[in-house]
Amino acid sequence: MVSTMVALTDEMIAAFETIKAFPVATASKEGWPNVVPIGFVELVDKETIWIADNFMKKTLDNIRENPKIAIYVWGPETKGCYQIKGDVELKTKGPEFAKMQETVRAKMSKAPAKGLMIVKIREVYTCAPGPTAGDRIL
Ligand SMILES: Cc1cc2nc3c(=O)[nH]c(=O)nc-3n(C[C@H](O)[C@H](O)[C@H](O)COP(=O)(O)O)c2cc1C
Repeated sequence: MVSTMVALTDEMIAAFETIKAFPVATASKEGWPNVVPIGFVELVDKETIWIADNFMKKTLDNIRENPKIAIYVWGPETKGCYQIKGDVELKTKGPEFAKMQETVRAKMSKAPAKGLMIVKIREVYTCAPGPTAGDRIL
């Protein structure tokens, strides 16, 4: 099955901007789950998220064998709650990788910035409490 990409709405983008560290969930091929806080999660366009790998171990192992990711977008200042799922492409060289290194090292000069995860957004669900919680919205 070929999954299509979906584009976040303005409300979802506004929610995204309120978050300082995102819970980033992956799973091994066998389905063993893993979730970690990640600060460098950047929306580069409405369909694409960049995640910088500085210190990842299990997340990286999971992405190599099962290139899929889920995050949720919620914090005390967030309007709404969104769960985002996507396919990941791992880059360790090339112009996009170099750009990520530059951005990360501008904030943290000694950051390893050893990998770039390019997430193509495939599905969005609402996680706001109420009767529509869990519904797929994109
Ligand atoms: C607030 C916060 C922000 C973080 N941001 C990042 C980040 O942008 N990139 C990164 O690789 N690790 C980041 N980390 C560290 C990872 O969460 C940590 O290395 C984690 O152990 C990775 O787990 P894993 O081995 O299961 O992948 C951050 C941690 C915290 C607490």
